[in-house]
Amino acid sequence: RFTVKELFAHASALANQSVSVTAWVRTVRDSKTFGFLELNDGSFFKNVQVVFDSDLENFSDVAKLPISSTVTVEGTLIYTPDAKQAFEIRAAQVRIDGYSVSDYPLQKKRHSFEYLRSIAHLRPRTNTFSAVFRVRSLAAFAIHQFFQERGFVYVNTPIITTSDAEGAGEMFRLTTGTNDEFFGKPASLTVSGQLNAEAYSLAFGNVYTFGPTFRAENSNTARHAAEFWMIEPEMAFAELADLLMVAEDMVKHVIHYVLEHAPEEMAFFDQFVEKGLLARLQHVVESDFARVGYSEAIELLKTAKVDFEYPVSWGLDLQSEHERYLCEQVFKRPVFVTDYPKDIKAFYMRMNDDGKTVAASDLLVPGIGELIGGSQREERLEALKKRMVEMGLNPEEYAWYLELRAYGETKHAGFGLGFERLLMYLTGMSNIRDVIPFPRTVGHAEF
Ligand code: 4AD
Ligand code: MG
Repeated sequence: RFTVKELFAHASALANQSVSVTAWVRTVRDSKTFGFLELNDGSFFKNVQVVFDSDLENFSDVAKLPISSTVTVEGTLIYTPDAKQAFEIRAAQVRIDGYSVSDYPLQKKRHSFEYLRSIAHLRPRTNTFSAVFRVRSLAAFAIHQFFQERGFVYVNTPIITTSDAEGAGEMFRLTTGTNDEFFGKPASLTVSGQLNAEAYSLAFGNVYTFGPTFRAENSNTARHAAEFWMIEPEMAFAELADLLMVAEDMVKHVIHYVLEHAPEEMAFFDQFVEKGLLARLQHVVESDFARVGYSEAIELLKTAKVDFEYPVSWGLDLQSEHERYLCEQVFKRPVFVTDYPKDIKAFYMRMNDDGKTVAASDLLVPGIGELIGGSQREERLEALKKRMVEMGLNPEEYAWYLELRAYGETKHAGFGLGFERLLMYLTGMSNIRDVIPFPRTVGHAEF
């Protein structure tokens, strides 16, 4: 018995041989004397074509099969390299293993992504989502491979936490129904594993996390989800410049990996989702990412011949229209913006000598905006405490985090990459809801 993927891979070697495949029926067509089945088993997004004729003892049952029924076909593989279908199976036997009811919602016509979101439990059965979620799996593997090959230790940081890692007040609060203080104090779902990753970095040197994070952000955009996966490497003895090199290498590694291991899926996206995707990704792996200081970026925006909706001035955060202008119009490739004003960034970022900016960097990429946020961490105990107080945080609530400084004031740096945003960048899919299996956004937690 072969998978559909194996039949495609070995069609010429299997020519005229007897093969068997178990799969779901994607389409059925028949005339009086013969018919066609298109079958898919999930191993590949393409379908295998099966021809059956009226010699089949159960011909009329097969011809009436509802879409999505399960069958096992045995027959001869006919190899036709010059035809539209490179091969087909002439069925000697079609065993019906399971019947679908007749109102299967996925018909042969193309459905909108919006409609498919409303049947998120069935959409992985379509070609597009088959390709998206196979690439998601491969990209996750590529990320582990990248870090493991460089000696980074994979750390599992907690999902339930009592400290706000970003200090931004976007935590989902946990309650048990009868007792709000199961943990002795209010607990929440984590917004980032960074603070815990820092603890392990200051023991192992280089570490990374890869796990779910949660944000109660009221942003109803195509790039924000309430539950998303983040990769957070943290490196001891490292500065901002070291971090940018790792981030650039990592993004390029993942692109190479999916181009090499999912060529058919990537070609499918190039044809049906974003024309020119392959050329765009090729350009990204071949060019160096750009770098620009925040202050210079502000000057570039001020002189832009574009009417921005939001104001541009030193000290204000960049809005997504500004971010996209910088990477899409000015640099035309991924760009690291560095050294942001301290007041628009998190408490843990290392103060620069000017006392006004921090050693932080966001990676902005065309089509998406912010893909990565990172920084060198404030390792100086007194400076960190002072900053926390200035920002209205209570140092006592972060006592363990401060001890990481007390016991070694070690330089270190790290970043966070939003996995779904990376997938949008890799596949050309334009909505974050279409690259995570069961999306959670404002007003939506079905399935
Ligand atoms: O910039 P953020 O908030 O940084 C942190 O959480 C740091 N603790 C990371 C670190 O230094 N270890 O988030 C990092 C990345 C963003 O650049 C973005 O790609 C993604 O996480 N992200 C989101 N993705 C989807 N939906 C959301 N609501 C997101 N918020 C952030
Ligand atoms: Mg950020």
